[in-house]
Amino acid sequence: MSTRVDENGVIVEIGDTGPGMPKEVQARAFEPFYTTKDVGKGTGLGLDISRRIIVERHGGEITIESRPDETVLRVRLPLRATTTP
Ligand SMILES: Nc1ncnc2c1ncn2[C@@H]1O[C@H](COP(=O)(O)OP(=O)(O)OP(=O)(O)O)[C@@H](O)[C@H]1O
Ligand SMILES: [Mg+2]
Repeated sequence: MSTRVDENGVIVEIGDTGPGMPKEVQARAFEPFYTTKDVGKGTGLGLDISRRIIVERHGGEITIESRPDETVLRVRLPLRATTTP
C-alpha cells in the first residue's frame, strides 16, 4: 500500500499479488452483486460500496490496474471536501 498527494488530491494505492482481474471482470467489478466467488462466499458488494463512498459521497475516483499476478486499486480523494460531515 502507498499514499501520496498530488495537485488533484490524495492517492491511496492498495495492491495484491493474487490471481488478477481479467478485463471482463474489471468491467463489471463495481456492479452490485457481481461476484466471481462461490455461492455463499462473496456478496459482490465490496467494490460497489467502495465506489459509492469514494465516488458518490466524496467526489473521488477509484480505478483498477490488473495483470495476472498483480492487482492495484487506486483511490483518489479530493483535497477539498465537497460534502458536509
Ligand atoms: N483484488 C482483487 N483481485 C482479483 N479479483 C478481484 C479483486 N477485487 C475484486 N475482484 C473481482 O471483482 C469481483 C467483485 O468484487 P467485490 O469486492 O465487489 O465482491 P466480492 O469480493 O466478490 O464479494 P465481497 O466483497 O462481498 O467479499 C470479485 O468477485 C472478483 O472477481
Ligand atoms: Mg470484495
